[in-house]
Amino acid sequence: MGVLLFVFYVAAAVGALVVLNILLGRPVPFLRWSVLRMLFGTKRLLSEWQGGDGREQAAASYVVANAPAGNVDAAIAALDRFAYRHKFLINVGDEKGAILDAAVERVAPRRVLELGAYVGYSALRMARRLPAGGQVFSVELNPSNATIARQVIEHAGAADRITIVVGSIGDGGQTVQTLEEAHGFTAGSLDFAFIDHAKDAYLPDLQRILQTGWLHPGSVVVADNVGFPGAPEYRAYMDAEEGKRWHTRAHKTHAEYQKLIADLVLESTLLLG
Ligand SMILES: C[S@@+](CC[C@H](N)C(=O)[O-])C[C@H]1O[C@@H](n2cnc3c(N)ncnc32)[C@H](O)[C@@H]1O
Repeated sequence: MGVLLFVFYVAAAVGALVVLNILLGRPVPFLRWSVLRMLFGTKRLLSEWQGGDGREQAAASYVVANAPAGNVDAAIAALDRFAYRHKFLINVGDEKGAILDAAVERVAPRRVLELGAYVGYSALRMARRLPAGGQVFSVELNPSNATIARQVIEHAGAADRITIVVGSIGDGGQTVQTLEEAHGFTAGSLDFAFIDHAKDAYLPDLQRILQTGWLHPGSVVVADNVGFPGAPEYRAYMDAEEGKRWHTRAHKTHAEYQKLIADLVLESTLLLG
């Protein structure tokens, strides 16, 4: 009985805080029903990689309705607006997105590999910073997310620069083969990778990518969410390899679309192939 009462009081307090936050114009972006719904649905999110309430398709429809066709900046801004005002999305977001933008600008990659497309937000951010002829290939496990991302990218007019590949680098070789045979991945051809998928797959998938020989000295790998929710094995690997195989710059930042939760983005340059 005591526990039930405690749960009731906590739920009532959280509910009151959310209502107050909404009434005050959402000064605390994380204190929202859509975030709480996503947190309570974490198990589903981590197995299906969707919020479970159609928010990803709603985000794509919002972009189509609110951003002029053929405008990458407007599509990115619409996704940010949707995530701040309507439903929380697990995009890299505007704050960490700026770190990603700067890394892409610095490297000026001709070929980018992304792990985890979701609704296409980070792929668009990278595509708009590419040099002429540059291409982003984004590997996405969930076919529905891949369809949604293609819809957003098509509307933004970036389909000539972004290819979504349904699959996973850890699927036993099928996706690696597709990237090599259908998309021209060869030894030393990959200049930049953005890792933003299942956190426990960061290190094994990076090691698989290293085994392909696609990366070259000077290639850069950016990893999101190393602080939150956290990718401890990946972080320990980069720490151990510092100055040997990799040089890493750690960017202290915040988890997407709020300022309460700290996060870490790692930008690692390959020293030895
Ligand atoms: C955090 S979201 C990616 C966000 C996106 N990079 C952005 O910032 O716009 C993670 C995505 O990775 C996908 N995913 C999960 N495990 C994966 C895997 N092993 N390989 C590829 N994609 C995966 C999920 O379906 C989900 O769409």
